[in-house]
Amino acid sequence: MTNTDHMVNGFDMATLGSLEPELRSLVSRRAALLGPAYKLFYEHPVQFVRASGVHLYDAEGREYLDAYNNVPSVGHCHPHVVEAVSKQIATLNTHTRYAYEPLLDYAERLLSTFPAAISNVMFTCSGSEAVDLAVRVARFYTRGTGVIVTNNAYHGTTTAAAELSPSLGSGVALGRDVWAIDLPLAKLAVGSDVGHELASSVRSAIADMERHGVTFAAFIADSLLSSDGIFPHPKGFLGPIAKAVRDAGGLYIADEVQPGFARTGEAMWGFERHGVEPDLAVLGKPMGNGMPIAAIVARPELLEEFGAVSRYFNTFGGNSVSIAAANAVLDVINDEGLLENSRLVGEKLRTTVEEIAAEREDIVAVRGVGLYVAADVVSPRDGEPDADLASRIVNQLRERRVLISAVGRAGNTLKIRPPLTFSRDHVAQFGEALDDVVSAIR
Ligand SMILES: Cc1ncc(COP(=O)(O)O)c(C=O)c1O
Repeated sequence: MTNTDHMVNGFDMATLGSLEPELRSLVSRRAALLGPAYKLFYEHPVQFVRASGVHLYDAEGREYLDAYNNVPSVGHCHPHVVEAVSKQIATLNTHTRYAYEPLLDYAERLLSTFPAAISNVMFTCSGSEAVDLAVRVARFYTRGTGVIVTNNAYHGTTTAAAELSPSLGSGVALGRDVWAIDLPLAKLAVGSDVGHELASSVRSAIADMERHGVTFAAFIADSLLSSDGIFPHPKGFLGPIAKAVRDAGGLYIADEVQPGFARTGEAMWGFERHGVEPDLAVLGKPMGNGMPIAAIVARPELLEEFGAVSRYFNTFGGNSVSIAAANAVLDVINDEGLLENSRLVGEKLRTTVEEIAAEREDIVAVRGVGLYVAADVVSPRDGEPDADLASRIVNQLRERRVLISAVGRAGNTLKIRPPLTFSRDHVAQFGEALDDVVSAIR
């Protein structure tokens, strides 16, 4: 087993016996029914029964502060989204094979947030399906097959997306035409400009694949490199990669599933922070605030021949209810100024974590943009990644009813990513809990 074979912050079934009887029976029933591939978060799994805004509630009515979930990014059960979905499901819910104007209204609205050259959108149900489609389009357009990813990337769960996802562990084979580039993690963690170094790795990977008889098609990366460890700085370091990709005749695919829809507080889309104009972008997670809707957006010339010879239909992708949810999400982002909120509250969140880290030697490299903050947990003895300590922090916070998780190649990066409606008061509450937890661990 490599260190990527077990899920970071996953519940270990070997500890089932330590759970209280009711939870133990629920967890073992779940394992019996769903099988071993499904993982639960936390050493002490949590059972939620409802949610509202930035809070989740367990069966006993206890409130948890959500500093982790980015899907309900405009807040759990936001009333405007709930109303839009409820009205729509009581009115009409069909697929995309009928002329339906709200679909077009939403498409126009969504596309207006992208560079003018990107003027087509295709809807899917999940980010994985969108990644799958984007890569299929790129391969068709370039007539190549080779794809470059980062070496702890996660792009999804379909066969094609899993083949692009080294973070899934050694049991999931990378595609034969997939090359993974190493990232200079230590430099990225402190925001050094590694753009040219990364572009050089991409050029070497392209040369290597061509030497193996594989024609280069595309580079794909999450514009925040989330599963690699969350690396937002400096702005622009993805730019030289995009140039290297274009110079080699490939396409740049921006995976915006994590950074998209205002998460970074600086721009609607993560690639904008890097001055990159992608050929294709993949959207998902927060798009429908929990309704299953995702998409690719593309320059139309990329879809022209592809569309002419390959029919595309996705039964649930872009259905009327999902479109109503997605439209309501854009309303809330605009009406509640969530881009600005993410920037301002995110800054406060980052400085709060920085202040706590400044007092200690085991929390380092605090970084973040908007409401996406990360810090590395290391051993004070030798500065090496300490995934166990990170896990203790995550689990102790859970016992304090504050939700975060951990991520990264070594599993030692704290991942703090609350809904975009997080307020300064929530940050204060979060900071107090984190401070208490790490002080008790010291
Ligand atoms: C960067 C990135 N791309 C793609 C996906 C896949 O999205 P989904 O789970 O909706 O299929 C994810 C999901 O975590 C993701 O984080």
